[in-house]
Amino acid sequence: MSALVDGLARLEYRGYDSCGIAGLENGKIFLKKRPGKINQLREEIKNHLSDKLLLGILHTRWATHGKPNQANAHPHLDCHHDFAIAHNGIIENYLKLKDELIGAGHKFASETDTEVIVHLIEKFYKGSFEEALIKTVAKLEGSFAVAVISRYHPEKLIGARKGSPLIVGIGKNENFFASDIPALLPFTKKVIYLNDGEIAVLTRNNVNIFSFSAKPLKSRIEKVKLKAEDAQKKGYEHFMLKEINEQPEVLKKTFSLYCKNNKLNFPDLSFRPSYLKNIKKIFITACGTAYHAGYVAKYFLEQYCGVDAEIDTSSEFRYRKLNIKQGDLLITISQSGETADTLAAVREFRRKGGKALSICNVLGSSLVKESDGLIYTLAGPEIGVASTKAYTAQIFSLYLFALYLAGIKKSLTKNQIQATLNELSKIADYQKEILDKCVQVQRIANKFSKLGSFLFLGRGINYPSALEGALKLKEISYIPAEGYPAGEMKHGPIALIDEYRAVVCIAPRDNLYEKMVSNMQEVKARRGNVFGILNYGDKEASLLADEVIHIPHLKNQFLSPLLVAVALQLFAYYAAKHIGCDIDQPRNLAKSVTVE
Ligand code: M6R
Repeated sequence: MSALVDGLARLEYRGYDSCGIAGLENGKIFLKKRPGKINQLREEIKNHLSDKLLLGILHTRWATHGKPNQANAHPHLDCHHDFAIAHNGIIENYLKLKDELIGAGHKFASETDTEVIVHLIEKFYKGSFEEALIKTVAKLEGSFAVAVISRYHPEKLIGARKGSPLIVGIGKNENFFASDIPALLPFTKKVIYLNDGEIAVLTRNNVNIFSFSAKPLKSRIEKVKLKAEDAQKKGYEHFMLKEINEQPEVLKKTFSLYCKNNKLNFPDLSFRPSYLKNIKKIFITACGTAYHAGYVAKYFLEQYCGVDAEIDTSSEFRYRKLNIKQGDLLITISQSGETADTLAAVREFRRKGGKALSICNVLGSSLVKESDGLIYTLAGPEIGVASTKAYTAQIFSLYLFALYLAGIKKSLTKNQIQATLNELSKIADYQKEILDKCVQVQRIANKFSKLGSFLFLGRGINYPSALEGALKLKEISYIPAEGYPAGEMKHGPIALIDEYRAVVCIAPRDNLYEKMVSNMQEVKARRGNVFGILNYGDKEASLLADEVIHIPHLKNQFLSPLLVAVALQLFAYYAAKHIGCDIDQPRNLAKSVTVE
């Protein structure tokens, strides 16, 4: 059982405001749950973590319905404590179901939507665990991945999936459910990714899968390529720092997979060249950091491929009245492949007849399953809630795709493509140079983190870098930070600037450099504290900056976001560390936002 708690701890990044465990002990359901982190739970249950507990479900929560307190933590029990359930997702019709169940005499112990599921199972149970779950899922609207145990069936663990990830792990004389691969890696690499509308029944030696309409289905066992160490800190103080440092390696791997002998090839792209050749418009959608990666891509897709590219956050995109023309392509970007809004955006776009290409870091994820084509990012498991290596892997993969598309469309010459590929192949080494400056960045971050708020300014392709720099800083250090296109500053945000504010100016020597220098002058004239991300050898902007991190100058100005990102990630990391924040698990957040 303590191994199961370790497994849960490997999923803590998915939510960490409360947690709990339910297991079968001496014919009864043992339940322990509490607000706070898994280590606190581990202490409380250490006397129960014996081998007497052979079957259990564990959950770590990111609150949707009801505060993160003991009552609302999962697992949840029915009235007679015959069943226990853990659930990810949202039951949209829970209020109606709850009223009906209360009317029929059921007693509720929490404010959660989840609890209706276990009371429905109790209501429908007439001796068959499977039948009770089938009848229950038929009543549920919304998204769910559930795992259920029952004291009537001490040999069975049963789960169902609709809209939230659920994976079966196949071990030796033991089987598992998990919502993500890292939890399974120490036990097994053999997995089945359940599809929506599927139920799985696990015993020690068997896995049976059937549909919500009770039709038996074949198991589709896949082998996971990741190693258990890939999801560990490997001596770093935080996952975030480890992941920042992994970026050069990730880019090297990506380059060698997708560019062999100077030829670009994407094995899972699945689009015919004739389709790609005629693309005129690309819609891009994603959330958070992935949205910023898409924003960077918008600039170079327009520049290299002669297409119109428009970008929107998925939460807005899914509700827009889109004017999709035949041949339009949607690019969606997601580390997890489980972000609810991004998935909904894909579904909506495809329903209207468009094709979707996903840039995704998790094979077997919902997004991968639901897209027409895939470019798999090779970032490896990203555990820190703040996305770092996934971001640069997304941008890098998209650069390679844009060059491939430009080749098909003949919007760039072979020489132009080759020159950009040459420079892309060197980015990993340039990133290393920036990583080597961590002591300098730490000193600047310590100094600047005392300031009350931050404005991140950039122009052109580094405007999204400014958005991403601000997001990174605010999400892990809680210092208010805004990203702005520098040219917009005098239309409002300049009012913020005084000697107590910090302004991060991203000003590599590109076609907008002179404009950035003017904006920096305006900041200095108002006594703002300037931290510049500038190229080596910079003269003018350096004179205006209180502190500078120098990054290599690139011939192709469109590639600089891959270097700027590293400097700003380190800056956010050290600022948060200086303040003493919980860097890998910042408050109120979860790694994967599987609800709308
Ligand atoms: O898994 P996804 O890439 O779809 O996640 C999208 C965002 O939730 C994610 O990038 C979030 O903004 C990160 N915490 C940012 O560091």
